[in-house]
Amino acid sequence: MEPEFWHQKWRERVIGFHLNEPNPFLRKHFGQLGLQPGQRVFVPLCGKTLDIGWLLQQGYAVAGVELSEIAVSELFAELGLTPVIHDLGSLKHYQALQLDIFEGNLFDLTAALLGSVDAVYDRAALVALPADTRARYAAHLQALCPAVPHLLLTFAYDQALRQGPPFSVPAAELERLYGVHYSLKELEYRHFEGFQQNVPVRETVWLLR
Ligand SMILES: C[S@@+](CC[C@H](N)C(=O)[O-])C[C@H]1O[C@@H](n2cnc3c(N)ncnc32)[C@H](O)[C@@H]1O
Repeated sequence: MEPEFWHQKWRERVIGFHLNEPNPFLRKHFGQLGLQPGQRVFVPLCGKTLDIGWLLQQGYAVAGVELSEIAVSELFAELGLTPVIHDLGSLKHYQALQLDIFEGNLFDLTAALLGSVDAVYDRAALVALPADTRARYAAHLQALCPAVPHLLLTFAYDQALRQGPPFSVPAAELERLYGVHYSLKELEYRHFEGFQQNVPVRETVWLLR
């Protein structure tokens, strides 16, 4: 998936992945990460998710990375925040209160720029990436913030029935991607028929420790 694929989605407002409420699985399971208010959550490929506002309201600091300038601008506008913006070359850093957003490519983000984080919340990030990029993504997250717990939502479905994104990431792949560094615990799942073509999908919430 080239960056232009996503830029076009944002320009043309093809953003069906964006939910109009904080994710119910986030609200239900975030406590399992065992964080204290004030600790910092990294939200990769964050779009303009309302989950960020929810995390801020709970008293957490949040860092995110997102390719689309449109998404980042709308995120701050919808939060009613005016960021200070610094040009970092391939990335731009938007900062307001307890929120840091890096506009640009996740793979250009370094641990030094990101700073310390205490957990990762991955909703529609891993599953947004094609198979060859997912291994690179998991390795990059490990380099950015080793050994922090993750709350991770995945979809699993018959990839032959539909092209991603979102892509199917079954449990065996998750084990290959993260199993060396983490133990994986399934917290909840639900079945639904979705993605326009009524494909049977299993959505799973994972805790990685
Ligand atoms: C499926 S959306 C999910 C957004 C958000 N997590 C949510 O739940 O609404 C994936 C997002 O990742 C962004 N994205 C894709 N590849 C990226 C990359 N390499 N670096 C940063 N952002 C990326 C896209 O612009 C898009 O907003």
